[in-house]
Amino acid sequence: MTFLFNSDARRGAIFAEAFAAELPDVPFAMDAAAVDPDAVRYLITWTVPENLARYRKLEILFSLGAGVDQFRFDAVPATVKVVRMIEEGIVRMMQEYVTLAVLALHRNLPAYLAQQCRGEWRDIAQPQAESRRVGVLGLGQLGQAVLDRLKPFGFPLAGWSRSPRQIERVTCYHGELGLEEMLAASDILVCLLPLTENTRGFLNADLFAKLPEGAALVHTGRGPQLDHQALVAALDSGHLSAAMIDVTDPEPLPAGHPFWPHPKVVLTPHVASVTQPATAARAVIDNIKRHCAGLDPIGLVDRTRGY
Ligand code: NDP
Ligand code: OXD
Repeated sequence: MTFLFNSDARRGAIFAEAFAAELPDVPFAMDAAAVDPDAVRYLITWTVPENLARYRKLEILFSLGAGVDQFRFDAVPATVKVVRMIEEGIVRMMQEYVTLAVLALHRNLPAYLAQQCRGEWRDIAQPQAESRRVGVLGLGQLGQAVLDRLKPFGFPLAGWSRSPRQIERVTCYHGELGLEEMLAASDILVCLLPLTENTRGFLNADLFAKLPEGAALVHTGRGPQLDHQALVAALDSGHLSAAMIDVTDPEPLPAGHPFWPHPKVVLTPHVASVTQPATAARAVIDNIKRHCAGLDPIGLVDRTRGY
């Protein structure tokens, strides 16, 4: 019952050490060419390898990332459980990033950076936190965690999901009507939705028009959710004030793209959160133990929903 690690050797070494300590009965392999494919029961990878069919006895396909949109589900036999990464390192980094972004937008940092480039010393009217409403699209592992981290700052907080949720000190919305209501009350909108057929192109001109005048965007979901042209138009018209963008389509963003020089855009290269090997190894090991005990792994993907 081999565990096959399909990623870089540095992270693999950390996984290998954890497996040796915690699951010594599960052989750990990093060289796919050197393993008997029929021995492989567990595979961890970022994308589904072309030759997945050779692992005829595969039981769990683990994603190295929290998102699974990069997996082609049709290439994965229905008997194989697909499990996304839920581990405390990813959660902590996303909390840091979204807090950084919300505070930067709240305190007008993009506008001050633009003023600095022009050598301009001028203060901008500063609303207080209690009047800056923050809305989060997606109330999953990450959406809930960032809302939790934002609580002490005093922003009125809201969140939107597919199914109804109840979260202390967060106004929760769901469904089509709930979305409109939340958008109309979001001065800073954070996208933490998974990429599915329903969320592709979600951040578009229609959605931006439903946000209050001067609203700002934090995008940490997936690149194909954002209509780049619509964002530039909303920023140039002044309807949106600024955007902090971590994910684009394509990645890397090509030279000459209008986001690069845009004074209202702060760009980061898909680094909001990164799987941390020590904590990720622990999460995967716990999931293998759950699986062996007949329990569903944590982060089991519902293929019909796509996340
Ligand atoms: P989860 O699966 O835990 O949560 C997804 C949330 O989105 C759920 O609340 C779900 O609703 C909601 N949702 C999904 N589809 C819809 C829809 N059509 N309408 C309304 N709500 C919807 O995901 P995570 O929180 O763990 O991660 C979210 C995403 O963050 C990942 O898929 C990935 O794309 C991105 N990410 C980005 C990183 C970065 O570095 N930029 C790093 C890690 C992740 P419900 O609760 O009803 O199911
Ligand atoms: C992830 C990511 O999904 O890094 O984990 O984007």
